[in-house]
Amino acid sequence: MIDIKEFTRRRKNLMQDMDADSIAILATAGEQVRNRDVNYAFRPDSDFLYLTGFWEPEAVLVLIPGRKHGEYVLFCREKDETQEVWHGRRAGQEGVLDSYGADDSFPITDIDEILPGLMENKTRVYYTMGIHTDFDQRLMGWVNQLKQKIRMGVNAPGEFVALDHLLHEMRLFKSLNEIRMMKKAATVSCRAHQRLMKICQAELYEYQLEAEFIHECMFNGCRDLAYPSIVGSGENGCILHYTENNRLLSSGDLVLVDAGGEYQGYASDITRTYPVSGQFSTEQKALYELVLEAQLAAIEMVYPGSHWNAPHEAAVKVITRGLVRLGLLKGRVDKLIKDEAYKAFYMHRTGHWLGLDVHDVGDYKVDNEWRMLEAGMVLTIEPGIYTGDNRRIAKKWRNIGIRIEDDVRVTRGGHEVLTSNAPKTVAEIEAIMASGQTGNIEDKISEPVKKTMAKKKARKKTASKRTTLRKKSIRRK
Ligand code: GLY
Ligand code: MN
Ligand code: MN
Repeated sequence: MIDIKEFTRRRKNLMQDMDADSIAILATAGEQVRNRDVNYAFRPDSDFLYLTGFWEPEAVLVLIPGRKHGEYVLFCREKDETQEVWHGRRAGQEGVLDSYGADDSFPITDIDEILPGLMENKTRVYYTMGIHTDFDQRLMGWVNQLKQKIRMGVNAPGEFVALDHLLHEMRLFKSLNEIRMMKKAATVSCRAHQRLMKICQAELYEYQLEAEFIHECMFNGCRDLAYPSIVGSGENGCILHYTENNRLLSSGDLVLVDAGGEYQGYASDITRTYPVSGQFSTEQKALYELVLEAQLAAIEMVYPGSHWNAPHEAAVKVITRGLVRLGLLKGRVDKLIKDEAYKAFYMHRTGHWLGLDVHDVGDYKVDNEWRMLEAGMVLTIEPGIYTGDNRRIAKKWRNIGIRIEDDVRVTRGGHEVLTSNAPKTVAEIEAIMASGQTGNIEDKISEPVKKTMAKKKARKKTASKRTTLRKKSIRRK
């Protein structure tokens, strides 16, 4: 858990960066309808969560540096016995003072009466436009209300400043407590990837691997995933954001699993690719080793003072050189890099910031230059090769999709890979898959998967009985 002191520290740091006579306003996400009267699971906005730790919808954070009655004001739902019996507990106004460190709190239903008063005579409003457009409109309405009182000596704020600019720079640098949360998400997710490698076999559906991933994460405290899992076997591995996950695994294919649990709001983001059968074919192994070489070269470029693009450049170099060696690209390596010929096989970038959001916030360029890596940043390193249905290459190389993705923290001395417990060398993968395939597979998987497999076995038995009977009757004829 991130403790209350850390949230207080974050708000103080933000207020120090704000100008005098200013106010910051931040609304959280609302509930989203899934269908009729069923909502999606609620998840607060990450900026709001970062500053409050408050996990309820219908809340608005207000920071007013220097306010006598308290700088930290939280609007939230009132306590309500009936609503709480039906829909769950609410902190209420007293609860947010006691448990979340708010200095002052009002019912969210009173915001129209109270918030304009808090903005009176402030010159600047720190606010992020365009996220909750309904709230944008309401905010403009409150400012206009104040403008109409100008003759009564009230000054309306004249300037809006992007709050996310200040906040995202803070979020880019993870505290030790945040690293702890990210390590927990990473450790649980690595175990989940191991579990999948052990149970992977032909005739399971992609979604059955996904189900086992969810089970392992949730069972170990990651109540949500950081993003929808990608489980792409064979040619599906070449679709970068494939989430249908509905194909049967086939023994000659690779399966690409990009999945990560979220712990206390913090994401992990891991990809592993392995052969359904437990053993790489010659072509799969050659491409896999190449992606791994690129990934290791990219990770080596993660250290303070290296620039954001250095890992990507390292990965591109290894991949292009390797594709030429394997005959999949023809020409001089430096020219192929300059012409971006590698993009036919490697079309995405090598990583992104990671934190409360899987594609976390923070600038990648400063003054139009790639920014330097600094201790405390966390990023993914995730090169890949996707051959697709490329008619220019020999058939044996086609429809192979490989990505290897780890979460890497920049430390003072270099870097730390947070996700090293997910096997990734060919030898490690083949060994863990072999260990899973010895013994009874049904002991290793959860009930729903067992049932499906039993049904399939029964269907196969009936089918083979029918074939035998048919053969016999043909012979009789
Ligand atoms: N899972 C999304 C990504 O790797 O960026
Ligand atoms: Mn990623
Ligand atoms: Mn990923």
